[in-house]
Amino acid sequence: MGQADHHKPLTLRNLQLTSPVALAPMVDYSHSALRTLVQECGGTGILYTEMLSIRRLPSETARHCPLLVTTPREQPLFYQLVGSEPERLPEAVAKVHTLGGAGIDLNLGCPAPRIRKMGAGAALVANRERLGAMLKTLRRETTLPLSVKIRLAHPAGESFPSFCKMLEDEGVDLITIHARRPGEKFCRKPDWPAVAEGRRVVSVPVFVNGGIFSVDDARQALEQSGANGVMVGRGALIRPWLCREITDALQGRETVTEYTEKTVYFRFLSLLGERFTARQCLDRLKYFTKYYSKLFPFGHGFYSKIINSSSMEEAEEHARVFFTSQQSY
Ligand SMILES: Cc1cc2nc3c(=O)[nH]c(=O)nc-3n(C[C@H](O)[C@H](O)[C@H](O)COP(=O)(O)O)c2cc1C
Repeated sequence: MGQADHHKPLTLRNLQLTSPVALAPMVDYSHSALRTLVQECGGTGILYTEMLSIRRLPSETARHCPLLVTTPREQPLFYQLVGSEPERLPEAVAKVHTLGGAGIDLNLGCPAPRIRKMGAGAALVANRERLGAMLKTLRRETTLPLSVKIRLAHPAGESFPSFCKMLEDEGVDLITIHARRPGEKFCRKPDWPAVAEGRRVVSVPVFVNGGIFSVDDARQALEQSGANGVMVGRGALIRPWLCREITDALQGRETVTEYTEKTVYFRFLSLLGERFTARQCLDRLKYFTKYYSKLFPFGHGFYSKIINSSSMEEAEEHARVFFTSQQSY
């Protein structure tokens, strides 16, 4: 497999990436507080919003929609759009411009029934004509870098490589490939080598995604796929410093940590509090703790305390007790 040079900065149009590591779009997780936490740990080349419906985006504001809350430091931030109606894109794209997005991503991989029903996400890949219209409209409406996130799937009558080539020909600047086929569960091992079939035929950067939980996983995914970079999802919820460790390893630096498991958790608490209402904070803390607690041998007990908390104050007290007990080991 031809290895890409991970020391050479990647450029998407006029955007130069400081690292070939992206934090994945994840509904309920990749909000402003998580993005900031991971960015502060370091090593993020691209951040993504949670997926945003092109129907709702034009009329929404950060005041009423937590998905749109962001801070100027969260850059480069790509807004991930989900939808299937090309005629709705001009307004959605204009909104991303107003919000100061650094790039736009089109979700072509989500298999959720609610998204499928709209003909969006993975379902849009099966509708070649509509997909073409969506891509053409996006390219016409913006000069920002355009990325797509796909699974190992392609329209009928087309091969996976020719699908990837079509994406490039329509003006896509970055293709992220989640190395699973539609319908494959997250517990299944991702097929990183299959990403290479798409990678070989395009000259735009390709990022490989799926099942990257360590530096070693990232190295293997890159080696097997020949991709130019990686996108990390759940791995960054368990280890918010994973993007930093991968970037340091790829760029030949030793990771010097100035944070601990406890300081990262409490930093997340305060980042939530600076951005969201008490209810929104508590929900997001519970989601995050489901993954973060996997770091600890007795993490399930900690998670159950947090999930049963009825206020942020109560959750914070449980966290204080838990991390104090961790220190005495
Ligand atoms: C809770 C959750 C929410 C997700 N939401 C999105 C989303 O909004 N858009 C998207 O393209 N993918 C979404 N994904 C898929 C992830 O971006 C990623 O492709 C997947 O988790 C595999 O990567 P990982 O193994 O590094 O987690 C989501 C995944 C999870 C677990």
